[in-house]
Amino acid sequence: MSRYRQDPEGDGPGSDRPGLPGSELVFSREPAAEAENVDRMLRDRLSVAEHPTTQAGWTRRTFLRNGLLAMVGAISAGIAVPVARYFVDPALREPDAQWVAIATIDSIPTGVPTRVEYVKRTRDAWRRMTSRFTAWVLTKDGEEFVVYGPDCTHLGCAYRWEESKQRFLCPCHTGVFDIDGNVVSGPPPRPLDRFDVRIVNGEIEIGKLNKM
Ligand code: FES
Repeated sequence: MSRYRQDPEGDGPGSDRPGLPGSELVFSREPAAEAENVDRMLRDRLSVAEHPTTQAGWTRRTFLRNGLLAMVGAISAGIAVPVARYFVDPALREPDAQWVAIATIDSIPTGVPTRVEYVKRTRDAWRRMTSRFTAWVLTKDGEEFVVYGPDCTHLGCAYRWEESKQRFLCPCHTGVFDIDGNVVSGPPPRPLDRFDVRIVNGEIEIGKLNKM
């Protein structure tokens, strides 16, 4: 801290009256203020020496602690993500959209809808199962094949082929379909569902079931 005092001789350069105290300011520092400044400066330097800082203003201890936490977090995430995928992923996946062989083309008589049973591996979340299903296969020329879903499009009852009437009949509410799966009478709201079909090495394979 600085302050000023008047010239006690009174004839300094700024005085316009000899013998009177002059008006020139004389700066001086008191010893106590100097000591306080030095003491503060030393404390600051000691503080810097004990806690060196990075450019971001972190102490070294803070830097090491945050780095350690980041490393632990990265390792935990590396373990947690695969574990979470293992448990969650099967439940989120779409049901298998795989092709399934259901019959050989030679086993289907021409012009007669034929009920076939086939086995399909399915997955329900984490469980893998083997289940039996049915479908109706029709070919009118031995080359092109149509495969109908097994359930009536009204409320899902199983229907059957009535050869004498050349109709598919559903016993639940007397729904009737023709050989091409179109609704003839009764409550069914739409034709029979059809699978995607392909022929591979003489076998009829079905894929997705489509509403018509
Ligand atoms: S379920 Fe087939 S007619 Fe109702």
